[in-house]
Amino acid sequence: MDLFRAIYSSQPFGFDSAILDGILLEARRANLRDGITGALICRADIYLQWLEGPEPEVRKTLERIERDDRHLDVKVHVAKQVAERTFAEWAMLHDPAATWIWTQSEIAGGALERSTPEEITEFFLRLRHGGTANDAVGACPHTASGSGLDETRVPS
Ligand SMILES: Cc1cc2nc3c(=O)[nH]c(=O)nc-3n(C[C@H](O)[C@H](O)[C@H](O)COP(=O)(O)O)c2cc1C
Repeated sequence: MDLFRAIYSSQPFGFDSAILDGILLEARRANLRDGITGALICRADIYLQWLEGPEPEVRKTLERIERDDRHLDVKVHVAKQVAERTFAEWAMLHDPAATWIWTQSEIAGGALERSTPEEITEFFLRLRHGGTANDAVGACPHTASGSGLDETRVPS
């Protein structure tokens, strides 16, 4: 399949658990429809999202996401064709403030802009391999499960 990966970051606007739950509900529903899988990492000061799927669907989803007024300053860090999915079983894995490599002050100081696409990709791969710990300052609101990774999987 023609598989495409996009990773972007953005700045949450009006960030609380109701907004986040709404985004995740919408994202998972649309992603199941569109054949998109991925992960959304969030904190009060940043969203970082990995999307994978057929290229036209990923591009259309990105366009919708860029127009969304629940966040600002969408920056695409990775956009490329890939051989296989990394988060294959997740309509949208949600990681509330996982093992952040940057503190809030580092983000505010431009750490994300200085990081390479490879570093950002590696960050997600750590998450994929279970390296999650809610040790971040200013963690985002927890969803109903309240504990780390949120278990919404694509039916097999
Ligand atoms: C941080 C964030 C992540 C989102 N992730 C997705 C996603 O993975 N898939 C998706 O279809 N929509 C996602 N959305 C929602 C879209 O921006 C959009 O509201 C939704 O796709 C419905 O678009 P429509 O009203 O134009 O049909 C996300 C929004 C935000 C703010």
